[in-house]
Amino acid sequence: MAALSVRLTGTKYGCGGGGCGACTVMISTYEPASKKIRHYSANACLLPICSLYGTAVTTVEGVGTTTTRVHPVQERLAKCHGSQCGFCTPGMVMSIYTLLRNHPEPTLEQIAAALAGNLCRCTGYRPILDACKTFCEESVCCQSKANGKCCLDQEDDLFDKGEKVCTRLFSTDEFQPLDPTQELIFPPELMRMAESQPKRTLVFRGERMTWISPVSLDELLDLKATHPKAPLVVGNTSVGPEMKFRGVLHPIVIAPLRVPVLNLVKCTDDGLTLGAACRLTLVKDILTNAISEFPEEKTKILRAVLQQLRTLGGEQIRNVASLGGNIVSRKSTSDLNPILAAGNCMLNLVSRGRKRQIPLSDIFADGASNSTIMPEEILVSIYIPHSRKGEYVSAFRQAPRRENALPITNAGMRVLFEEGTDMIKDLSIFYGGSVSTTICAKQTCQALIGRYWNEQMLSEACRLILKEIALPGLAWGGKADYKKTLIVSFFYRFFLEVLQSLKTMDPCHYPGIPMEYGSVLQDFQTKMPQSIQIYQDIEPGQPPEDPVGRPIMHQSGIKHATGEALYIDDLPSVDGELFLAVVTSSRAHAKIVSIDTSEALKGPGVFDIITAHDVPATNEFYYSNDPEIVICVGQIVCAVAADSDVHAKQAAAKVKIEYEVLEPVILTIEEAIKHNSFFEPKRKLEQGNVDQAFETVDKILEGQIHIGGQEHFYMETQSVLAVPKGEDKEMDVYVSTQHPAIIQEMVAASLGVPANRIMCHVKRVGGAFGGKLLKAGLLASVAAVAANKTSRAVRLVLSRGDDMLITGGRHPFIGKYKVGFMNDGRIIAVDAKFYINGGCTPDESVLVAEVSLLKMDNAYRIPNLRCWGYACKTNLPSNTAFRGFGFPQSALVTETWITGIAEKTGLSPEKVREINMYRENEQTHFKQELDPQNLIRCWNECMEKSAYYSRKTAIKEFNKQNYWKKKGIAIVPMKFPFGLGTRYLSQASALVHIYTDGSVLLTHGGIEMGQGIHTKMIQVASRELNIPMSCIHFCETSTTTIPNACASVGSAGTDVNGMAVKDACQTLLKRLQPIINKNPKGTWNDWIKEAFKQSVSLSATGYFRGYNESMDWEKGEGQPFTYFLYGAACSEVEINCLTGDHKNLRTDIVMDVGCSINPAVDIGQIEGAFVQGIGLYTMEELKYSPEGVLYTRGPDQYKIPAICDIPEQFSVSLLSSSQNPYAIYASKGIGEAGLFLGCSVFFALRDAVTSVRNERELKKTFTLNSPLTPEQIRAACADDFTEMVIGSICSPQEGSAE
Ligand SMILES: Cc1cc2nc3c(=O)[nH]c(=O)nc-3n(C[C@H](O)[C@H](O)[C@H](O)COP(=O)(O)OP(=O)(O)OC[C@H]3O[C@@H](n4cnc5c(N)ncnc54)[C@H](O)[C@@H]3O)c2cc1C
Ligand code: FES
Ligand code: FES
Repeated sequence: MAALSVRLTGTKYGCGGGGCGACTVMISTYEPASKKIRHYSANACLLPICSLYGTAVTTVEGVGTTTTRVHPVQERLAKCHGSQCGFCTPGMVMSIYTLLRNHPEPTLEQIAAALAGNLCRCTGYRPILDACKTFCEESVCCQSKANGKCCLDQEDDLFDKGEKVCTRLFSTDEFQPLDPTQELIFPPELMRMAESQPKRTLVFRGERMTWISPVSLDELLDLKATHPKAPLVVGNTSVGPEMKFRGVLHPIVIAPLRVPVLNLVKCTDDGLTLGAACRLTLVKDILTNAISEFPEEKTKILRAVLQQLRTLGGEQIRNVASLGGNIVSRKSTSDLNPILAAGNCMLNLVSRGRKRQIPLSDIFADGASNSTIMPEEILVSIYIPHSRKGEYVSAFRQAPRRENALPITNAGMRVLFEEGTDMIKDLSIFYGGSVSTTICAKQTCQALIGRYWNEQMLSEACRLILKEIALPGLAWGGKADYKKTLIVSFFYRFFLEVLQSLKTMDPCHYPGIPMEYGSVLQDFQTKMPQSIQIYQDIEPGQPPEDPVGRPIMHQSGIKHATGEALYIDDLPSVDGELFLAVVTSSRAHAKIVSIDTSEALKGPGVFDIITAHDVPATNEFYYSNDPEIVICVGQIVCAVAADSDVHAKQAAAKVKIEYEVLEPVILTIEEAIKHNSFFEPKRKLEQGNVDQAFETVDKILEGQIHIGGQEHFYMETQSVLAVPKGEDKEMDVYVSTQHPAIIQEMVAASLGVPANRIMCHVKRVGGAFGGKLLKAGLLASVAAVAANKTSRAVRLVLSRGDDMLITGGRHPFIGKYKVGFMNDGRIIAVDAKFYINGGCTPDESVLVAEVSLLKMDNAYRIPNLRCWGYACKTNLPSNTAFRGFGFPQSALVTETWITGIAEKTGLSPEKVREINMYRENEQTHFKQELDPQNLIRCWNECMEKSAYYSRKTAIKEFNKQNYWKKKGIAIVPMKFPFGLGTRYLSQASALVHIYTDGSVLLTHGGIEMGQGIHTKMIQVASRELNIPMSCIHFCETSTTTIPNACASVGSAGTDVNGMAVKDACQTLLKRLQPIINKNPKGTWNDWIKEAFKQSVSLSATGYFRGYNESMDWEKGEGQPFTYFLYGAACSEVEINCLTGDHKNLRTDIVMDVGCSINPAVDIGQIEGAFVQGIGLYTMEELKYSPEGVLYTRGPDQYKIPAICDIPEQFSVSLLSSSQNPYAIYASKGIGEAGLFLGCSVFFALRDAVTSVRNERELKKTFTLNSPLTPEQIRAACADDFTEMVIGSICSPQEGSAE
């Protein structure tokens, strides 16, 4: 849709499968009969263009542009700092814009629902929600309060006396009002067309498919009889992904949407009849109305269906997906089928000459998908009966994320009692998610008829259900034990619900459920988060025109929101440009016997196939020395160049590779240890005398923790455009990277040309997080080789699936530890071994292992310490840098054993933390001095701001009163060392030109990937040159302007480039000073003109040599870091012990960022990283097949945090009066540190699990691995149900005792 040819590139492509919302557009339709215009949001990536006949499509460009008018939605999103990398922003704008077209003053619930289908990997959502809240009638947060104080907090608790702090990151005063009368109208010609043109069958023919859209049932039946295999496509949310990702091709597609009877809505006294083509949003509205109209007794089925609809997909999916499509596709993950089947719903089916009505449950007979709907049959409508007296109905679901995630398991249950009794007359239980379709516990239901609703019936029911729903060990999609546990837990929840309803109906006869069980009947709801951000105000004497220290909007914020900000895939096509699709290995370790490209070469539009033989010089993209050997699944074997992306991909699928499998195949850390497969060198750090110290301790704790990997999931996938310039072997390479210099070096080496022929350009990057360094170089080399061979421009944009498959991510980690401590909680000795899964090439794995050792002490003094770091060599795609670089893993190991010590000593975890925290000027385990004053301040302030102790008491009370729901709280300190280990890695350059009109062009070696570096650099230049930011422009980072720039990594971008920019500006100012002195009242423009006349050079470079950092690994000593950032976070959670679900209730963060150059940017980094940390530690789970094939290759299988995952109350304070002599304007680099604080949620969950286990008198020592998913939480909350499933009271891996 956002085709290059029409140059509407604002709409972004993040996944192609409806899972991320980056491609959201607004569809408007006009209904002549009612004269109503309907606006709804939809995912462009799944919208067949033929389905849009007669509709108006509004993309972000239609909402507003900088050349016409910036719409209030765009303005507010930008000014509230709701964009960082900006790649998700057009999608966000479209979701909010569509909401406002329908509801100009939306409620908080409507906002949360509208954005549930939009993912953002950068911001942590808070600022996006703040922008939305400004459209609400209700005053919702501190931001809208004029006095700058938040309604959430008591003033006295928050602010230190005498300290001037701010809580406003934006001012609402300057916002344009939203004026609905100014919106685009529905195109009159489409209205006329709808009114005047008789409805006729539409046929669209494409290269491979024909789309037929009939208007009458007769015609539809004829078509279906003629083409029984053709799918009926309404929303395309089921057929579309199958065609895109599973290679299914339907030469004919029938679109039944315009057949009136399929849109029927009939409401009678007995029930509702809904046309099969009704969109789920409409179904939701109809059910909501019906529920308000009919007495409660009649609406129990409707309520249960509505409950499932609330969390089914995102709004964009529900707006297009049809009720019939959800039913007929009979997916195991259908949330509607179990409840509709349990609710005795009927299907009205029609074919040529035949009409019949069958119970929906029939299409799931015997638990296997069978073809009770004939190929020529059409589902016309669905009948949902009203519930009867004495009938109770419920629906349940548990998903990896509460919203916009397919269920792991779901259920629909209904019971009908003999009148006036609790004797079962009829019972219906259906489950989804467990096998390949919905299944019915039919025999169980029959066996229980006549039984009373009591404990005996419950245990019999659970026993029978487990027997009947016998999931194979490797259940569909895995997690067999968890699914079984959910299956019985859901029934138990139904049992409780019905007991409670019976009591409401007849309190004399039915006692209901114990008080402490009551809360489990409420599911967690997504509430609009309340938030506050606190930072120190600028000094009173600072001139108003000096922007440093102020919350300045991202330099590209408005362009992000209007879609004008360009990414690689948005660059205009170059004449003759080719598209590249890569072919990857499907074996983890094999010899390539043959590559057959003959079929692929015959494909339409195919230009060439690029192999290793086409590399003119160094082959940077071979993983092993032997090009015939593949060493991971996802290794690039060859690439197809074609005239379009589609043609290239189609041909790539036809390349046949024959392999000879090689041994060994090493996938896990355990296997690498077994095969002694490591990258060298192995690293060790030691201080004190560990062995001796262990002799003196009171207790020893030994254990290990597994920490899973993490996918970067930057919203813009890896992208390159290589353009040969036709002269002197010059080539322009436009690439989404954090490190243009390495791209230049790798491309030049591949092509065998000097680096001065390769010009690498980076305007902006749609998120990187460490993932766009060497991997980007590899892909750029592939594209450059193709461009070199074909002499054409070549574009390579990885699909989300390929990106996840090929590029690796954060290292999976095993931390083994032995800790000696005293009964008073003092740590005496630690002996630890860290193993990281490096994958198949060295990449930066040894460096990651080193950093994990250097940072493993986190905030604690460990007098005797020995730790080893091993980078395992395996047959997984190579893992690489990721925000935090080893620290998030090794510090989690430390916090785990700290918690273990607390359990063993009976002290609270926070006491053990306090006892062992660095207190005075001390040395780290590698003998670097540190002053922990700000660590203690952060800790104390966090304790105070979070009201830790009073909330801990309240939680204890809550836990006493609630059996199936528990709360937990944890506070975690952090010391984050800043530095890159050696001087040369932190050198930086800048180039500043002043033109004779006074405008300034600034460039430096840093990359803008969302972290606001260009904004900060313009702030620096503005202060130094004493001119407004508006006079300064940043164009792009390029190897032509800044040679040999270091990578933008390790939170260092602003520190080092800031110094270089300052240097360049000072040089210029020095040159201008005599002119200024001569004419002090003159303007900037006067001085510049005069300088030009006097032949004063108006261009200067600036340079920063880098920090004096070094580490001697032989001695285990050094100064690898320049300074330390400190922080602390306190999080509170609530868990549902029956499902393992949890809710993040509150987080308070205090962070020491020195003197912030831009508090909005810094707070944005903290919040965004923190939410990414929540993902790492509690949600994001990579799954591989036993052969090493990554299963989780898109947002449908891999869940990053969404709005429903951010804490309901979220406060971030920047520590005041913090100075840093080492960095620009006393600031500190903050890009990475916040991520680790996400582990406060992990430990809060652990705290909640601990109270469950204490109450149930389960074993005290237990280990929880990361990510701490609902599956693990459920297993740790062992009870009768887990016992039924596993056979005995189970607990997750036990940590071994002393
Ligand atoms: C990102 C995403 C998230 C999702 N999340 C959820 C979720 O959380 N829970 C959930 O339950 N589902 C979820 N889904 C699935 C979605 O609800 C279904 O794909 C959707 O309801 C199918 O409707 P459709 O109109 O898009 O079907 P289409 O793709 O248009 O058609 C689906 C199939 O149904 C058949 N069909 C359609 N109408 C008829 C008819 N009238 N008669 C006979 N056959 C017919 C077609 O032949 C086709 O085979 C999700 C899908 C996506 C893409
Ligand atoms: S690109 Fe369409 S939803 Fe992700
Ligand atoms: S700003 Fe949302 S993904 Fe980058």
